[in-house]
Amino acid sequence: LANKGVLSAKSAYELDIEELYDLDDKLAEEAEELESIKIDEERIQFLHVLADGWAGKLKNFMNETQLLESLHYNTVTADDGEQFLQSVPITCHLTTEEMEKCQEKERIALRHKESNMVLAIIEKPTFFANRKEEISARVFGTLSKEHPKIQRIFEEGDYLVSGERLRVLSKITYEDGLDEYRLSPTQIMKIAQEKGADCIYGFQLRNPLHSGHVMLLNSTRDKLIERGYANPLLLLHPCGGWTKDDDVPLNIRMEQHQALISDGELSESQTILAIWPSPMFYAGPTEVLWHVASRLNAGVNYFIVGRDPAGIGHPELEGENLYDPFHGQKVLDLGKDKFHRTVEIMPFKVAAYNKVEKKMAFFDPSKAADFEFISGSKMRKLARDGETPPDGFMNPKGWEVLSNFYKSLSD
Ligand code: ADX
Repeated sequence: LANKGVLSAKSAYELDIEELYDLDDKLAEEAEELESIKIDEERIQFLHVLADGWAGKLKNFMNETQLLESLHYNTVTADDGEQFLQSVPITCHLTTEEMEKCQEKERIALRHKESNMVLAIIEKPTFFANRKEEISARVFGTLSKEHPKIQRIFEEGDYLVSGERLRVLSKITYEDGLDEYRLSPTQIMKIAQEKGADCIYGFQLRNPLHSGHVMLLNSTRDKLIERGYANPLLLLHPCGGWTKDDDVPLNIRMEQHQALISDGELSESQTILAIWPSPMFYAGPTEVLWHVASRLNAGVNYFIVGRDPAGIGHPELEGENLYDPFHGQKVLDLGKDKFHRTVEIMPFKVAAYNKVEKKMAFFDPSKAADFEFISGSKMRKLARDGETPPDGFMNPKGWEVLSNFYKSLSD
């Protein structure tokens, strides 16, 4: 890697991320008069992704050419000719009726579905068919309508809208008490600089942190220190957008992550806990490319990946994974020279509970009987039943948060 070392890590701070905010009162006034469509929470999350610069040089909901490039090449070519990794579609759907009323307009507004507030303007809008089956088959490698995200895609409107320019008229907030954690790439780089970090290692997650995760984090830190970094900074970056119904809700996950920091299991000064605004896709290896590409914009130099990232149980075959649990990291490794010259992937083996040593450890197949895999559903069941997991599985303060949540559901 060309950019190892303190000096080159600094260059990450100099990334020039362009935000799409245009907080001009006059424009906001004009926007009130425009034909508009109402967008729901998931489209607002994608708007947020674009507005903050989490999709790099993608500056608009994808147009037809960009979507085709993304679906067939996993890239998008920017106006300046740079081809960058973009493996999942970032689109805005609308119904035929909405398309018809917006079709001849010079500008249209996007309004918040609940508050009706104008969030953005699209200049010179263009419309094209939302080819749901084709998009799903290419992104997910399955067409099962039992897949939770495919289900949602099939509920979308039949058209997609893009346009010449997207102007976002207000900061995107969710008023859920967590807005302060929604840091943009620029804000994250600024904090990293203030903390004097000499490299940033990123961790994407959508689950509560168990001690296996913490082991990956600590082990990465040790490796970075060994390589000569003095102050590696962890970007603990839970996915804040849509997740499937049986995943732990964002507010509970944040409370759980924060409990581990307050309890000292993760160092407060060496960690930035921030929310990444994108929704999940559950698209396995294809989605992991997005997880990494997006974090490049916040100056992440190292990215941790373990077992079955962005994975999901097979929607129709009980007990099977939809994706090979190690294809995520294999795919990242394959692209290392091509796409992420500025980030190094830190792959990890699977962590499981070692019943003999009473702690999470890397699974050793020669001692398989010593290990137990505590799945998400098993964990939820324990929490619901008011039982505690075995010692060393999760920080007790973190467990308390989960257990209170699941108990409150069954009350
Ligand atoms: S994800 O959908 O956001 O990738 P999750 O929150 O479950 O899911 O995982 C976050 C990261 O931790 C991913 O890189 C995943 O591969 C890794 N991971 C989760 N559980 C384990 C485990 N038991 N062993 C090794 N890595 C794991």
